[in-house]
Amino acid sequence: MCQNDTSRPLGEGDPLVSLAPTLPAWLANAVIYQIYPQSFADADGDGIGDLPGVMDHLDHLQWLGVDTLWFSPLFTSPFADAGYDVADYLTVAPRYGTNAHLIALIEAARSRGLRVMLDLVPGHTSDQHPWFQSSLQDPCDDRYVWAHSPTAPGPDWVASTGPRPGYYLPNFYPVQPALNFGYARMDPAEPWRQPVDAPGPRANRAALREIMAYWFDRGVAGFRVDMAFSLVKDDPDRAATAALWGEMRAWLDREYPDRALLSEWGDPKVSVPAGIHADFFLHFVGRPLRSLWGNAQGSHSDAWGTQPCYFAPEGEGSMQEFLHAWQEADAAIAGSGYVALPTANHDFSRLVCGTRTREMVAPAFAFQLTWPALPVIYYGDEIGMRYLPGLPTKEGSQLGSEARQGSRTPMQWDSTANAGFSTAHADDLYLPIDPDPERPTVAAQRDDPTSLLHHVRTLIALRAEYPALGTGAAVTVLNADYPLVYTRGETHLVVVNPCAADTQFTLPEGKLGRARALVTHGVSVADGITLQAAPFSYGIFEFSPASHSG
Ligand code: NOJ
Repeated sequence: MCQNDTSRPLGEGDPLVSLAPTLPAWLANAVIYQIYPQSFADADGDGIGDLPGVMDHLDHLQWLGVDTLWFSPLFTSPFADAGYDVADYLTVAPRYGTNAHLIALIEAARSRGLRVMLDLVPGHTSDQHPWFQSSLQDPCDDRYVWAHSPTAPGPDWVASTGPRPGYYLPNFYPVQPALNFGYARMDPAEPWRQPVDAPGPRANRAALREIMAYWFDRGVAGFRVDMAFSLVKDDPDRAATAALWGEMRAWLDREYPDRALLSEWGDPKVSVPAGIHADFFLHFVGRPLRSLWGNAQGSHSDAWGTQPCYFAPEGEGSMQEFLHAWQEADAAIAGSGYVALPTANHDFSRLVCGTRTREMVAPAFAFQLTWPALPVIYYGDEIGMRYLPGLPTKEGSQLGSEARQGSRTPMQWDSTANAGFSTAHADDLYLPIDPDPERPTVAAQRDDPTSLLHHVRTLIALRAEYPALGTGAAVTVLNADYPLVYTRGETHLVVVNPCAADTQFTLPEGKLGRARALVTHGVSVADGITLQAAPFSYGIFEFSPASHSG
């Protein structure tokens, strides 16, 4: 019989939930840029991106106007799941550099007005993590979820690979054992279940705080939190998991009130009231995100059906699913945090995918960067890099039918070898460069004021210049069909037409008055009330309520 291990910390000082959570002021205006470290820029020529490579491009990111960089995991790992299998939370993987490189990068970024967020993987480790290696030796170790049963409790359990008898619960791939944050419900048939306040779960919560504090103390602004929903097991309404994050938030508010958590939960109406600062709409929870740009032509072509999305040339989608989810989340959040809206990420297709070409995606950015969500731009989307089908799996990227590698190809910087990503031999690159001779590059688009990169830069600058385009001002949708038309606050009107047809909308009489176009690409206004939106167009106008009669 195992005794409670009192020799290691039991999460002493677990804080009570605070009654007055605070929001870091910077978060409201953040424009976040996701860097997939292995694919961004390779400075040492080994074919894999690294921190000195990112350092070389900080000026470009500053020029683009984003202000927060989120790095997918860059910690020591056997890379069975591209780094989401962490073997040491406190050490940068040698292939990316050293902790000193990361600290220097944080400082160099800060001097350019850029914050750095890291990726926290709280629900599981690699099976190579020393915690798991000792758990394999010690039948009393309760850091992971172990079943002592002599037969497998179910198909999801993995037989011990060490002297310890029994089975462990993986959280994702079998090599990613679930850390033990307890179960929301006990079950006599599963006597290994531990409550959330058992010593193991308490120690794991304390360990998470220690990991976060370690990086916060080195200047990190926050964490994207991997599978934040997954921590407490058998928690059908996620109430126990929400309580765990409420406890974390109370600690953050007390110790690090200017740092933020951005969760991979996918359900902001649950996660944000629980204490997470911002949560994504994601491809795997409902359809709000997929109804925007999930055109079922990339990584999720088989898995997610074929319903049309709104931002597609065919013009057969609808904004209703998104707007409904938005209203629900907005009401539940009630100003206590944000919904984050990604262009794409390392798990699902880029905006440029299938029939949606580079020439068609500027309206998606116009929407993303004028909607009161937190915009998150996936590296390369700002130049219209495409989702590349047909690539072999890399580091666990192929997930059933989902070819995630198509969204993970090297950044395209210029017209030199390997698109300027690396000096390695093309065969040694992390993933192949897009072979299209017309592939977009940063260098070419910087030289072309009509390029997508310049559209995105202008939109980011507008959002910074006019707070009404950011998270703070109300949004009122005037037309949810094609074109999408909405006002921001009392001062701005946005028109977005992402389809291949000319579209029109007649504004309510006097709505626009004497409007000033801030940017228009294919949108014109006749008589002050009739909007004409050409294919793949957008327009952002400033108007004054006082000018309604004009
Ligand atoms: C979500 C991450 O985004 C994904 O890439 C990873 O494979 C799983 N979590 C497991 O950590």
